[in-house]
Amino acid sequence: MAIEKNRIITIANQKGGVGKTTTAINLATALAAIGERVLIVDLDPQGNASTGLGIERRDRKLSSYDLLVGSHSIAETVLETAVPNLSIIPSTLDLLGLEMEIAQHSDRVFRLKKALASSEGLAYSYVLVDCPPSFNLLTMNAMAAAHSILVPLQCEFFALEGLSQLLETINQVRRSVNPTLDIQGIVLTMFDSRNNLAQQVVSDVRTHLGEKVYHTLIPRNVRVSEAPSYGKPAILYDLKCAGSQAYLQLASEVIQRERQRKAA
Ligand SMILES: Nc1ncnc2c1ncn2[C@@H]1O[C@H](COP(=O)(O)OP(=O)(O)OP(=O)(O)O)[C@@H](O)[C@H]1O
Ligand SMILES: [Mg+2]
Repeated sequence: MAIEKNRIITIANQKGGVGKTTTAINLATALAAIGERVLIVDLDPQGNASTGLGIERRDRKLSSYDLLVGSHSIAETVLETAVPNLSIIPSTLDLLGLEMEIAQHSDRVFRLKKALASSEGLAYSYVLVDCPPSFNLLTMNAMAAAHSILVPLQCEFFALEGLSQLLETINQVRRSVNPTLDIQGIVLTMFDSRNNLAQQVVSDVRTHLGEKVYHTLIPRNVRVSEAPSYGKPAILYDLKCAGSQAYLQLASEVIQRERQRKAA
């Protein structure tokens, strides 16, 4: 089998509850639905991406923890999801202890990068890494491994404030562990068109960040928030709802940008 080159996209924002995991799950599902081979790496000890994709805790025999400590490979830690073409390396609470365990190792930031560079990692055309809401060793591993960062930004007053901190961190990562780290794009989430402030935030973010901001706005949508409790991506739970449609549109924007990038 020919080894494909993949695109590793880390979904990060140090702010909690902005839609990182929802974006990871639904963007991955949409990419898988159009035939891409997709891997989600759940690097958040909360394990919301794993739960949201229906992976029960009792089925998580091995996890991203085992991958990062280096005891197991991708093939050993990966699980198939109910979505064809979509696999996941789930998370367990062991991740909480990882930092202490590998703190003394000089390659501690590059554990994920090394694992994904294997032929098993290269077999996926997209790898989406779901991060915890902080700049810790897990997020650093995700940023060191990635080709690019996708930033979900909730349409609220403090969005821009958190963003400048994130952009500064991305610059630090470029200076230290990953000089070619790109910004894949910024996706505005939980948009409520009835809220004037949300409209203002959208226009401010677009003014500041221009073409990096996706045209697709992810609306606040109750079906999207219900889906994880059924262990399903919103796109499977209710394909027709506005949130699912928006995530499909986001996936097509991501692919279109990838085509442009490759052609450039
Ligand atoms: N478009 C949406 N419409 C309605 N609810 C949403 C939407 N996107 C996310 N949510 C809900 O908002 C909450 C936070 O979303 P999510 O878990 O994706 O954020 P997160 O950034 O991953 O959070 P954390 O920082 O804790 O990992 C969840 O309850 C989720 O179901
Ligand atoms: Mg999350």
